[in-house]
Order: sequence, then structure tokens, then C-alpha cells
Amino acid sequence: MQFSEEIGVGLIGFGTIGTGVVRYFQEGRGEPFGVRLKKVADSDLSRPREVEFPGLTERASDVINDPEIQIVVELVGGENPALDFILDSMNLGKSVVTANKAVISRHIKVLFDAARDRDVDLAFEASVGGGIPIIRVLNGYKGDRFSRITGILNGTSNYILSRMEEGMDFEAALEIAQEKGFAEAAHELDTGGFDARDKLAIISSLAFGCAVVPEQIYCEGITGVTPVDLDFAEKHGVDEGGIGYSIRHLATARMVANQLELHVYPALISKDHPLSSVRNEVNAVYWEGELCGPQLFQGKGAGRDATTSAVLSDIFRLAHNLRSGTVDELPLLDRQVQLADVGSLQRRGYVRMGLKHIPGSIAETARIMGEHGFNIEDSVQRRKFRTESEGKAVIPDIVTVEALPYSTVEKAFRDLKESERVCGDPFFLRFES
Ligand SMILES: NC(=O)c1ccc[n+]([C@@H]2O[C@H](COP(=O)([O-])OP(=O)(O)OC[C@H]3O[C@@H](n4cnc5c(N)ncnc54)[C@H](OP(=O)(O)O)[C@@H]3O)[C@@H](O)[C@H]2O)c1
Repeated sequence: MQFSEEIGVGLIGFGTIGTGVVRYFQEGRGEPFGVRLKKVADSDLSRPREVEFPGLTERASDVINDPEIQIVVELVGGENPALDFILDSMNLGKSVVTANKAVISRHIKVLFDAARDRDVDLAFEASVGGGIPIIRVLNGYKGDRFSRITGILNGTSNYILSRMEEGMDFEAALEIAQEKGFAEAAHELDTGGFDARDKLAIISSLAFGCAVVPEQIYCEGITGVTPVDLDFAEKHGVDEGGIGYSIRHLATARMVANQLELHVYPALISKDHPLSSVRNEVNAVYWEGELCGPQLFQGKGAGRDATTSAVLSDIFRLAHNLRSGTVDELPLLDRQVQLADVGSLQRRGYVRMGLKHIPGSIAETARIMGEHGFNIEDSVQRRKFRTESEGKAVIPDIVTVEALPYSTVEKAFRDLKESERVCGDPFFLRFES
């Protein structure tokens, strides 16, 4: 196909994803779309990279101000100066592609309004779910409705939980994830749930038409999960003919009577739930449409190539938009919703605590839980995971409890921790319905 005018692209951030984008441009991926990569900026020009680029500059402004560049690709990451790069580009009438969840999740309304005011495109497919095309699906989802969206949005956490299902503890699983490049040395953003929280802010804003920021979202990571929990999950309900449970790190948004419930947490999920089979570094997003029923989108959630595919798709679509004089529709995000108080949400759950193996321990903890209104369904001691503390045997005690508010669990845990019969921190897992 011949194009009357070539579209110029400039890239800021020649790191992991930037290298992927440069590499595939150099292999000719832009040619069928009449798109050329003209300039690349990075603060560190000396670092050896697996691909060379002749038009390299240290200054992002060289890319942003170049009149031959119509699409700016921001791949530096973090909130600032990425936000300035995006806004400065849009102010000059340029369309922007970014993979930056930190900046999109925290400034989504400002950025959407700026793109709309300047009649330019802002595309951010790679910011959630790596190569899964979930952003364009959510933006185009107009024929059906759903009241809840749940994702497995962090590949590192999912990879670690998958290894723990095979019997490893958290530290050993993390080490393998780091060796394989699925986890960074500083893993807390992933294992603490904060990366998934940013992504949930983005998809829940799009799904429900309101501007949610990450700091409004209740967030728990996977660092408290132990092999005892995985062992319990595997066996739970099997004696009664069930198929057992998995533990998955879920990011969930649910709209109930114009109240939006938002939370990121590890949960027990029945093995017949579609998200239970999402393993390793894979990401997934799940919802049930009123008309279309359950839908599961899954694929590689990170990594150079998967993320590069989303960035390239955005670039080529925006080039098409420029030629046809259109822009993607961005939602107004003006729906006024109340955020639910997560502390008052009621969930059926599982409590695990290490009990000193001395007479009266079970009675004492049952008394404390009873005082806080826990209605215990079942209780089991897992001798297989017996440890020692101060010369005394410690045995994990697991109770399943009927639905109760998170805030009640927190209060009861304060009292349980004060009991001399309880070793370490008690741990609560929700059952996902
Ligand atoms: N990696 C993934 O699997 C993945 C997946 C999905 C989305 N993303 C997103 O993609 C974006 C890029 O991620 P990445 O993994 O490619 O990060 P990265 O490897 O750290 O690359 C970022 C590059 O930008 C450069 N940079 C930083 N500040 C700059 C500035 N002011 N001007 C010019 N260059 C600057 C950095 O240089 P220095 O090293 O010298 O600071 C680095 O070379 C992030 O928003 C990330 O969240 C990444």
C-alpha cells in the first residue's frame, strides 16, 4: 500500500520496552502502515543495547518538539517527568502512546480531558495486561453491561503463587521468579499488590465511567500466603465431593447500587472458576456480561515482546486515525459514584494462626473469635506444618468462618495477637464467590 505522507514517530525511554519497539521498527513492522521511527531519547546513551538507533538524543524535548514527529511514545515509566512529556506532546497537537500505568492511573481524567480538548489521541493499551487487548475491549464495550470485573493483573504474584502450589515457600518461589526475569530485585510493588492496584484503577475507571485513583483502593499483597494456605486450598471441600480451591491474587471492582467496591487481595477461588486455571506469569481479566455471559481474556501480562505488541498496535492505529482525521473516543469519566467502605464488606473467610500446643489454646482463640461475632463453620489443625517456638510446638490452626466484615476481622486479629497462645500474625483469606 502507498501512503501519501509518512507518519513520524518519536520514542522517549530506550529501556526494556523501548528496545523492543526500536527492534521491531528496524525489522520493518512500520512499513506496511507508512510509519517511521524518527527519533529516540534516553537519559543514558552510553548503556550497551541489543539494537542500535542512529537518531538517538539525550533530551526528551528533541522528540517532543520535532515537527516531523506526529506520534510520541512515552516509555520512561513512573509519574514524573512522564506526565509532563505526555502533556507537552499533546499541547503541541501530537498523539501519544504510553505503557505507563503509574501515570495513567493517577491522572486519568486530566489526561483524557487534555486529549479531548486538543483533539489528539492518547493510547495506553500496554498499561494493563501487557499484550492482552483489554483497554480497547473495555472502551468499545457498549452493547452489554456488567456489574463486576475481576483481574489477575500481576504476573509476578501469579507466577509465585503457581510455584507455591507445587509446594515451595514464598522465598523459594520468589527466587525462581527473579532468576527467570518475572520478578525484579525490588519486588514489593508486585508482591505487595501495588502494581495490580494501579491497573485496577485504570480498568475500573473505564468499566464504570468514573475516575478512580489507586490510593482509593484497598490493597493486600501475597507476602502473607504460606504453604499451609495452599495445602488447605487444595484439599478444602474435597471430602464432601468438591474439587478444591486455588489461591489467586485478585483485583476486583464491583458496582452495587452506585457504590463501587474496589479491592486487591489474595483469595480462595474454587477450581471450577475460570480464573483458577490462570497460572504462571499469565494475566487475565474476567467479567460476566448481562447478555453475553462469562468472558475471560488472558495472555502474557508483561515482558518485552508482549508489551511491545500492544505499543505497536496503538502506534499503527493512531497513524490510521491521523490519516483519516479521527481520534479514539475516550470516556468522560464523569459518573459520580460512592466508593464502598471496604471495612464493612462481608466475606466468608478462612483464618490461619499458629497456636502453641498447650491445653486450652483452641478454646481461648475460639472464645476471642466468638466475642467478635465469628460464626465458625469448621476447624482443623495441620500437624504436618508443626514448628517450634521457645521450646514449644506450634501447630497451624485453620478455621473457616461465615461471612463477616473486614473491619471485624481486623479487630479480632488485634486481640488474637495479644494472646500468649498465638504465635506470629493471624492470616485471613477471603473465599471468592
Ligand atoms: N517491562 C515490562 O514488562 C512492562 C510491561 C508493561 C508495561 N511496562 C511499562 O512500560 C514503561 C517502560 O518500562 P521498561 O520496563 O521499558 O522500563 P526501563 O527498562 O526502566 O526503561 C525506561 C528507560 O527510560 C529512561 N529514562 C528515564 N527517565 C528518562 C528521561 N527523563 N528522559 C529520557 N529517558 C529516560 C531510562 O533510563 P535510565 O535507566 O538511565 O533511568 C530507561 O532507559 C513503564 O511505564 C512500564 O510500567 C513495562
